Amino acid sequence: PTTRYYHFELKIIKLSPDGFERPVWSVNGQYPGPLIQANKGDRLVINVTNNLGDPATIHWHGIFQRETNWYDGVPGQTQCPIPNRVSFTYNYTLDQSGTFWYHSHFLAQYVDGLLGVLIIHDKEDPYLNYYDEEYVITVSDWYHSPSAPLLVQRVAPYYTGFNPYPDAALISGIGQYNCSAATAGLHCNSNVSPPTYNVQKGKKYRFRIINTSAYATFTFSIDNHPLKVIEVEGTPVKDVSSSVVKVLPIHIAQRYSVILTADQPVANYYIRASIIDSCLAARTNNTINYNSSINFNATGILHYNGADSNKPTSTAYSFTFPPCQDLNSSTIQPYKYSPAPTNVTNYFVFNVTSILNDDGVTLLGINGSSFIPIFNNPANQRIMLKENYTDFEENQNAYGYDIPNEAIQITLLNNQSANHPFHLHGHNFWIVAQGPGSTMANISTSKYNLKNPVIRDTTLVPAFSHVVIRYIADNPGVWAFHCHIEWHVELGLVAQLIERPTEFSNQTLPDDVRALCVEYNNYYKKQK
Ligand code: C2O
Repeated sequence: PTTRYYHFELKIIKLSPDGFERPVWSVNGQYPGPLIQANKGDRLVINVTNNLGDPATIHWHGIFQRETNWYDGVPGQTQCPIPNRVSFTYNYTLDQSGTFWYHSHFLAQYVDGLLGVLIIHDKEDPYLNYYDEEYVITVSDWYHSPSAPLLVQRVAPYYTGFNPYPDAALISGIGQYNCSAATAGLHCNSNVSPPTYNVQKGKKYRFRIINTSAYATFTFSIDNHPLKVIEVEGTPVKDVSSSVVKVLPIHIAQRYSVILTADQPVANYYIRASIIDSCLAARTNNTINYNSSINFNATGILHYNGADSNKPTSTAYSFTFPPCQDLNSSTIQPYKYSPAPTNVTNYFVFNVTSILNDDGVTLLGINGSSFIPIFNNPANQRIMLKENYTDFEENQNAYGYDIPNEAIQITLLNNQSANHPFHLHGHNFWIVAQGPGSTMANISTSKYNLKNPVIRDTTLVPAFSHVVIRYIADNPGVWAFHCHIEWHVELGLVAQLIERPTEFSNQTLPDDVRALCVEYNNYYKKQK
């Protein structure tokens, strides 16, 4: 194993991902940020210098952070925010492999561009010999306005509308926008060339696909090329005929690896990433950021070596499945036999609820309570510094459990008309049930799939539906569990799972984590 050092400078630059120029919150001046690649067992040491003007943190989505919970990057839960002009070093080992990503967890900064991809290679990957080369593709919604003013509108008192609407769809940070819809005088280019991926006829390619959206579910496909799913969020997938798909639905923060066989006539083919309009809430002209001219379809090009440079003439696959649902175990059953744990000692039922607060703001939350972090709240900070977190009952949306290696079951009931892609930090989980209906009466324990359930770290809980997950409490720490629609995070749809506090308190908190809170408190006082 090696130690890999990175330096991230967080700074705001001007960029035009879809041709429309706007300020972008970048890592080292790039969007998406630098690709991090490592091998299983390596250590990552990432020094982050914040020059954004505002505080920030970086979360490593899907990384377990065993014994390094304080580097999980969640402000108000695991660390204080990194103030402007301050550096902080994340330092952790990788005991997993597969496709991950990183993003700011501070306000909606990742919607403004602060994100990148993290790949962990593994010489024991069962699919290593199934492909010749690999590519990484991010798919994302994109907004022409910075997130801050959109958020102000979203949390305005008595606002009853929907989430801000994206202006464009991007593939690997590149999109096409029709500038005639843009306000005159702004810098805009309607002719951004699509991202191109070269292949050699006869070879096989692994594509890693990551949905880094704030709000959008995507479908992903490559004309004339069915895709064989081999990995879901770090878990290899069983090689069966139904793991081959023509169109892949991918929700926010989810990742897949697929294999493409370049066996078609030498030519150019469209790569298509489309926002599924019907998975978003209704678009009306009082929706924030309403934009009648949005192009929901981003395209890229699969270019066979030797083909001309003309535009593809290929046609899209049609699909009939409901894309606002997750793939199930017939497509993405784990490669290794991994039955769900049955020694469950803690059963949580989380109802997704709306909460009207005293200021007239309709928040979202779990079981009637929202998590809105107050970064300078001494009570919160004592938890982050592990001084007082055994009092978890008293803390916002905290759910504790303290028996080593017990299995935890969470039943998510979504009685809302919105879909909620839920992500668990520090773990992956078995999905033992999912289906329509949002009451306990809709769930029959005799129908639980305990034998070959899907394992992942982010799952969609569709509107008026339920999902039941299980995971093992093998990682002491404070772990966020939240809807990954960024607008919903900011409305409080977040819980804190306080895992094995007794053991966690015995781990030694690094001095720099403590020092960061001192820096933050100084910064906070100066701001006031
Ligand atoms: Cu992708 Cu709480 O994060």
